Amino acid sequence: MSKKLICHAAELVTCAGKAPKHGKEMSEIGIIHDGAVLIDGDKIIAVGTTEELKQKYDGADCEIIDATGKTVMPGFVDCHTHFVFGGYRADEFSWRLRGDSYMSIMERGGGINASVSKTRAASLEELVEAGRDRMDRMLEFGVTTVEGKSGYGLDKETELKQLRAMKELNASHPVDVVSTFMGPHSVLPEYKGKEREFIEMMLREVMPIVKEENLAEFADIFTEKNVFSIEDSRYYLNEAKKMGFHLKIHADEIVQLGGAELAAEVGATSAEHLLQSSEAGIAAMAKSGVICTTLPATAFSLKEEYANARRMIEEGAAVAIASDLNPGSCFTNSIPLLIALSCIYMGLSIEEVITALTINGAAAVNRADKIGSIEPGKQADIIFLRYPSIHFLPYHTAINLVDTVMKNGEIVLKR
Ligand code: NIG
Ligand code: FE
Repeated sequence: MSKKLICHAAELVTCAGKAPKHGKEMSEIGIIHDGAVLIDGDKIIAVGTTEELKQKYDGADCEIIDATGKTVMPGFVDCHTHFVFGGYRADEFSWRLRGDSYMSIMERGGGINASVSKTRAASLEELVEAGRDRMDRMLEFGVTTVEGKSGYGLDKETELKQLRAMKELNASHPVDVVSTFMGPHSVLPEYKGKEREFIEMMLREVMPIVKEENLAEFADIFTEKNVFSIEDSRYYLNEAKKMGFHLKIHADEIVQLGGAELAAEVGATSAEHLLQSSEAGIAAMAKSGVICTTLPATAFSLKEEYANARRMIEEGAAVAIASDLNPGSCFTNSIPLLIALSCIYMGLSIEEVITALTINGAAAVNRADKIGSIEPGKQADIIFLRYPSIHFLPYHTAINLVDTVMKNGEIVLKR
């Protein structure tokens, strides 16, 4: 009996149709009341009301899953994290509470470079086990696909070790991992003033192996004052594109450098953070179809202004929301926190937030044809909420409402 019929969902959120969803389309999440989903193996084969699907498919070879009183929706796609790393930086959080800034901690040797030493010291097995534990907790929040970045190695051996850990986790954990190479994540003291040389080393000595072993689909860079300049970022991204990588960019997080404009210029799949992006930068991203990935938990943790997601939507851009889980600027993967911050501080409706966390997140990892919505032909990555409406998501503030997670047609978590 490989068929399953989920039926009587109080609200079935499909997120079906065009992908990604831009501007006003982000409000169209395709709710079906008393909804049903038919699954065969790992795929969704039909979607409709319970009455429609029961008439057509109710048969002896079908397991019935009753979702009475529940909201059923696509699994969340956390499209921006740095979840594979060694050690922690809890002390830095307390320094920031005292008034130190993220960049001042970085400039005196803390920040990303502190995680580099700890990640270099960790074995592959240690990284895999720590990563697995974090993925277990992602799954509890209903995340069924996660993007993960390297960038705590800054040398060949450790960058590859991080990516190999993610490859192993993708193969052995129910949550799917999409990997991003982010060698240019920080500048070690020995490369200060020689950033181009560092990028060249990454491009010529590390990235060919990443390609050869199929260790990452995306290339990313931290474009920021005192990290990588616009010129160095442009060079790196264009070279990475020639090598066949899709592009992402950490843009305009602390200082408005023009990262949003650069993302549009190089044809990046997505640009991330965007707290300081200019209006021209936002318009350029909307026009060229760059997905604007906002990371509100990072703005919250750093006590920075939130990205202007309303402006992005008004300009007709496709907005995604992700956790940015990492050991420094944002050590949380809480989806309920993201929902609360997005609704309360970024001013998004719950419909827009759901789009940003599902189909637009899927598009940000080039998977919108396979995941992110409940439609025939898609992978059966489906979550059940223990309340009958999406409106409980922001209302039951910061509480995890996920009670069941189905991954590839199998129930992998029940609370
Ligand atoms: O997206 N800004 C750069 N990279 C990460 C932070 C990494 C860290 O602090 O360890 C980010 O916020
Ligand atoms: Fe990040």
